[in-house]
Amino acid sequence: MAFPTRVKLVEVGPRDGLQNESQIVPAAIKVELIERLADAGLSVIEATSFVSPRWVPQMGDNAEVLRAVLASPRYRPQVSYPVLTPNLKGFDAAIEAGAQEVAIFGAASETFSQKNINCGIAESLKRFAAVVDAASALDIPVRGYVSCVVACPYEGDVDPQRAAWVARRLLDMGCYEVSLGDTIGAGTPTAIKRMIEACAAVVPIERLAGHYHDTYGMAIANIYASLEMGMAVFDSSIAGLGGCPYAAGASGNVATEDVVYLLRGLAIETGVDLDGLLAAGQFVSRYLGRESGSKAARALLARQAPGSAGVRVERSVS
Ligand code: HMG
Ligand code: MG
Repeated sequence: MAFPTRVKLVEVGPRDGLQNESQIVPAAIKVELIERLADAGLSVIEATSFVSPRWVPQMGDNAEVLRAVLASPRYRPQVSYPVLTPNLKGFDAAIEAGAQEVAIFGAASETFSQKNINCGIAESLKRFAAVVDAASALDIPVRGYVSCVVACPYEGDVDPQRAAWVARRLLDMGCYEVSLGDTIGAGTPTAIKRMIEACAAVVPIERLAGHYHDTYGMAIANIYASLEMGMAVFDSSIAGLGGCPYAAGASGNVATEDVVYLLRGLAIETGVDLDGLLAAGQFVSRYLGRESGSKAARALLARQAPGSAGVRVERSVS
């Protein structure tokens, strides 16, 4: 199958990235990061999650962050700022804070579902159906996630049919898109392709997204494999921030800068400005006091540094 000519990127750094930082990042820094990501041309930026602050204290400022983003003079109406809502309680709080898009997050692994959201898959689907019903009454779009689509930190390899089954349930419920999470980044292109094949047999590929963590350094290869299958939506995280608090050892999502660099090389449009992304990545990396997790960002910034060969970063196609 031919590569797509355009790819949509869903930036998950402010949520998936910062939920896993040991330090709690102040709301003002999160808001500044989200605004810089929007300035760089990202059209979907997952802003926060309305989960229990006892489970994930890093997201305890969810309403404050979302309200500040929506009220900011830098707010861009063409950008979507979805938030995670695992149940009606989270959904109600998100709506109260002004959410205009939400996401529900299930799993293909029973044990991961229990550890992550404190209920099994069947019960989670009931909770999600209630969220989707409430959202549809308010015309709020809902995105769905399936975690552990190729492997689970507790159960090992996951049968692709189980991922496909949950993905289909989420679509039937009313999700406009289902993001397939390789939560622990264990997948390789062969496993990812097998998993996409199973999912695409029951959910149109246009409604599927790849959400690949980079624990084993496979995420870029997995995106390339997914592009070959015709997938055109990918989740990524600025500076490679991230992980999952309920998947020990899981490292960050694939870095947004690396994905944009790859796609630019393949002449696939993203609408994202790589220079703007580099600036946003530098901002958050400096705040966290460490080097960016993006190899492309590190290389490009080194080339821009005074005294270097001085090769300019081209603007990405948009
Ligand atoms: P629970 O304890 O089963 O909920 O938590 P409960 O209904 O039994 O209520 C217990 C207490 O939690 C009550 O408070 C509720 O009010 C409160 P108390 O009366 O004891 O004071 N509560 C809430 N508080 C705030 N927001 C809520 C909420 N719901 C109940 N929405 C729950 C269930 C899902 C809330 C909990 O298990 C939780 O917060 N889990 C954290 C899940 C999470 O954030 N995981 C990380 C994100 S998923 C991920 O990273 C994977 C992904 O990136 C894809 C991939 O990589 O695979 C998406
Ligand atoms: Mg994730």
